[in-house]
Amino acid sequence: MSTHTPEPPSPRFIREARRRIAAARAIAVLTGAGMSADSGVPTFRGATGLWRTHRAEELATPEAFSRDPRLVWEWYDWRRGLIAAARPNAGHDALAVLERFVEQRGGRFTLITQNVDGLHTEAGSRRPLELHGNIWMMRCTACHAVSTDRRVPLPLAPELPACARCGGLLRPHIVWFGESLDPTIIQSAVDAATACDLLLVIGTSGVVQPAASLASMAREAGAWVVEVNPERSAGPAVHCWLAGRAADIVPRLLPEALQAGRKGISEA
Ligand code: APR
Repeated sequence: MSTHTPEPPSPRFIREARRRIAAARAIAVLTGAGMSADSGVPTFRGATGLWRTHRAEELATPEAFSRDPRLVWEWYDWRRGLIAAARPNAGHDALAVLERFVEQRGGRFTLITQNVDGLHTEAGSRRPLELHGNIWMMRCTACHAVSTDRRVPLPLAPELPACARCGGLLRPHIVWFGESLDPTIIQSAVDAATACDLLLVIGTSGVVQPAASLASMAREAGAWVVEVNPERSAGPAVHCWLAGRAADIVPRLLPEALQAGRKGISEA
C-alpha cells in the first residue's frame, strides 16, 4: 500500500458525482473499514492496519476459537473497547441524511457494510446490511440464539460468556475467515447492487469476497460506480475515483438541497 498523498479530487469530479447522486432513483452504498477510520477505528490492511500487528488466522477463524476461545474473546473485547470510544464521523452522518433524502422522494437506498462496528446505525442509517456481522452481538455455539451485549469490558473470567437460554458458549456474531455469509443478507446486497443507478464504494480495499464483487456486478448491470478512498482500491469497475477521506468527501457529495444546512428533508 503506497503512502503517497493523492491529489484531492477536482471540484468537477465532486460536482459530477453530486449531480448523479441527486438524479439517482436507486442508490447502493458499500462501505469498508476506511469509513470508520476517521472515527478512530483501525482498518485491517494498510500501514496501520490491524492485520499488521495481529495474526488474522489466529484470531478471526472458527479453528482459532475452538483452539483458544479465551484468546479470541480477549481480542474482540479489546476491539469492542476501541469501538465503544468511537463516534460516527461526518461521513456516517452524511449517508444517514442521504438515505432519508432519497427515500422521502420515493427512491431506493441500500447501505451495505463490511464493518461490524455499528457506527452506521448509531449515525441513523435505518437498515444497514451488515455482511460480516456486528461486534456488539453474540451467537450461542450450541443453540445458535443471537443476543446483544454492549458491556465494555466483558466479564471474561472466570467463565467465558454463556448463553442465557441453554448455557452454551457464546461466540462473537461475526463472519470469520472461511465461514459463509448469511445468504439472505448477501442476496439483498447483490439485489441492491444490480438494481441501482449508482453505487458508492467507500473505504474498502476490495480484497475480500463476496463484497469485492459488488462493484463489478453493479457496473455490469449499468450502474455508475464511484469510489471514495485515499487509495484507488475497488478495481476496474470504478468510473470515478474521488481520492480522499470519507469524512471529508462524503458530505460534499450530498445534493445541493442538503448542502445548505440540510434544507429539504425532515429529520423524521
Ligand atoms: N476514508 C476512506 N478510506 C480510507 C480511509 C479514510 N479515512 N482510511 C483508509 N481508507 C481505505 C484504505 O485505503 C483501504 O483501501 O480503507 C480501506 C481499508 O481496507 P481494509 O483495511 O482491507 O478494510 P476492508 O476493505 O473493510 O476489509 C474487508 O476484511 O479483514 C476482513 O472482515 C474484515 O470486513 C473486513 C474485510
